[in-house]
Amino acid sequence: MNISDFKYLQNLIKNETGVILNDEKNYLFETRLQPVMEKRQIPSLKDLVNRLKQGDSEGLLVDTIHAMTTHESFFFRDGKPFIHLKEKALPLLFKQRAKTKKIRIWCAACSNGQEPYSISMILDHHFPKEYKDFDIQILATDISEHVLVKAKNGIYSDFEVQRGLDPLYREKYFHRIDTRTWRISNDIISSVDFQQHNLMNGLEDLGSFDIILCRNVLIYFDVPLKKKVLDQLAKILSKDGYLYLGGAETPYGICDAFKDSAGIKGVYRLTP
Ligand SMILES: C[S@@+](CC[C@H](N)C(=O)[O-])C[C@H]1O[C@@H](n2cnc3c(N)ncnc32)[C@H](O)[C@@H]1O
Repeated sequence: MNISDFKYLQNLIKNETGVILNDEKNYLFETRLQPVMEKRQIPSLKDLVNRLKQGDSEGLLVDTIHAMTTHESFFFRDGKPFIHLKEKALPLLFKQRAKTKKIRIWCAACSNGQEPYSISMILDHHFPKEYKDFDIQILATDISEHVLVKAKNGIYSDFEVQRGLDPLYREKYFHRIDTRTWRISNDIISSVDFQQHNLMNGLEDLGSFDIILCRNVLIYFDVPLKKKVLDQLAKILSKDGYLYLGGAETPYGICDAFKDSAGIKGVYRLTP
């Protein structure tokens, strides 16, 4: 790929998603965009870039963004944050919201849905009474329309179901569709509201949340965008709420609105 096409794609992805693809990621464009070109019978990257420049196909842009962003996720990813959620955050919030009986949870950058579904399974299995008594909203958003389609279908491969998922949850909430695929139960699917949302845009319209998971996405942004997102998250997180970031992400040195919660990596509260 010539340098000007590479720069064009690099800037396009940064401007549309905030994701920084360094110069060393040059090779990624070739491999990741191959299926996009095959789907539309576009002969070369140069032609793909020309089509994107003409701006006449919204679908091509959506496919390009999807291909160039990383969607890696799995159920109960990293374990400890979900243990914290189950043993600390949720029990505390059920006490603190005993009067209003309303809790709002947001998974920003939810990818294929494993993260919000993990939370819904925790609620259903460990807090069945509260899950019924309380108005608990789980909003899950992502920039990619493709991952949202997969998330809403709730269909996962053997590999995806085996990764991180306790057999207890698999037995209770998944059924086999065929020898290679599983579907999560309708109740769990319908407990999550999936919407398309770009973290580069304002968050005010989403309202406020008691729990926010914004995991393994800030890592792809530059520092000014990390700061912009974290500053906005601080405004929409309840005073006694929890923010969960990915294991390789931290607000320290970028946004001083958050502090560690009980020394658990990846769990933060607002600084008083
Ligand atoms: C690596 S996945 C993380 C999934 C999940 N949060 C987890 O930790 O397992 C990153 C997700 O961020 C999404 N993403 C990238 N840029 C985004 C943006 N500007 N706004 C919203 N989502 C974005 C991608 O589409 C992708 O699904």
